[in-house]
Amino acid sequence: MGFLSDRLSRIKPSPTIAMTTRAAELRAKGRDIIGLSAGEPDFDTPLHIRDAAKAAIDAGHTRYTAVDGTPSLKRAICDKFARENGLDYAPSQITVGTGGKQILFNALLATLDEGDEVIIPAPYWVSYPDMVLLASGTPVVVECGLEQGFRLTPQALEAAITPRTKWLILNSPSNPSGAGYDRAAMQALTDVLLRYPQVWILSDDIYEHLVFDGFSFVTPAQVEPRLKDRTLTMNGVSKAYAMTGWRIGYGAAPESLIRAMAKLQSQSTSNPCSISQYAAEAALAGPQDYVTESRAVFQRRRDLVVAGLNACPGIECPIPQGAFYVYPSIKGLIGKTSAAGTLIADDEAFANALLEETGVAVVFGAAFGLSPHFRISYATSDQQLTEAVARIRRFCEGCA
Ligand SMILES: Cc1ncc(COP(=O)(O)O)c(C=O)c1O
Repeated sequence: MGFLSDRLSRIKPSPTIAMTTRAAELRAKGRDIIGLSAGEPDFDTPLHIRDAAKAAIDAGHTRYTAVDGTPSLKRAICDKFARENGLDYAPSQITVGTGGKQILFNALLATLDEGDEVIIPAPYWVSYPDMVLLASGTPVVVECGLEQGFRLTPQALEAAITPRTKWLILNSPSNPSGAGYDRAAMQALTDVLLRYPQVWILSDDIYEHLVFDGFSFVTPAQVEPRLKDRTLTMNGVSKAYAMTGWRIGYGAAPESLIRAMAKLQSQSTSNPCSISQYAAEAALAGPQDYVTESRAVFQRRRDLVVAGLNACPGIECPIPQGAFYVYPSIKGLIGKTSAAGTLIADDEAFANALLEETGVAVVFGAAFGLSPHFRISYATSDQQLTEAVARIRRFCEGCA
């Protein structure tokens, strides 16, 4: 028996963070690296939000707060759900944590026992399966390929449900595919879920505001109100307001689950950062210009990247509905050899060769549970994206 726990051996470090670290190491050695692996907006947090944080410090809001969020932030979150999602929640049904990540972690740790199953459509955000494993649950991964728009079908959902299914995790728009569920696609899933009362729905809505071409975002509790009493609607300020470093996420759910999550949080982080909570309140209750402006910028970048990648031999890149990622297929490159002599045996070999031979850092598809693909985060400048796409094209043209 070693010093480290069995629990720890079940999980691996985040592969997206690993790739970003590798790119930073190469850059520090003087290599010209374009990093497209990190999942955060490249903009600064809007000024009025930063000002609210400075004012909070000066007003002395620098102490412990209520465990799962200040009353005024919870009210701002209730207003947000009512205004943007048509969802009516009371403050007692709201929880605030240190990033959306802690909300997910709390929910899974508070509810899973050995043998409990969690359905996770792939490609998935890298942390879902590992969080389930840490909580002693069993991830049930359902592959949702490019041919079905990376979306879970009602048939595949129904086939994956067992008496031990405790949660279905949905993430629309998705990291890494950018795929979004419109009302009809969401309703097809909620119709199935109505028939299985043992299944709770964890809806990760963190990319809600990053939707393009007039796509209308919907969340399960809004589409099917009869599921509201077994849904955790999770969201946060990281992606919507360029606030990844502030670490504020939140969730809405029945009071019994919210209380259980608060119990757990009271014995781990106590409360999210007091100053960040005031900043998050300003983000949710204040002017929303940043949301619209950043959406337009991301849509332009998406178009630039999709067009550029589809001009690369061996790559097929569908057009995503949202988020700031594309998830192209490299089926046409598998088995070929790069100009520098690397065999592209799988998507991990592709991503490594791309980094070593062209200096472009992307994340390989196996990390997200669906191969052969790779993920590009286009949350960087147009100039960097243009250069990256040109390098990827030269790389693909050199493969034979
Ligand atoms: C799908 C998804 N959910 C949740 C998160 C967590 O974000 P945060 O903890 O910054 O709120 C991320 C961040 O990358 C994400 O991509």
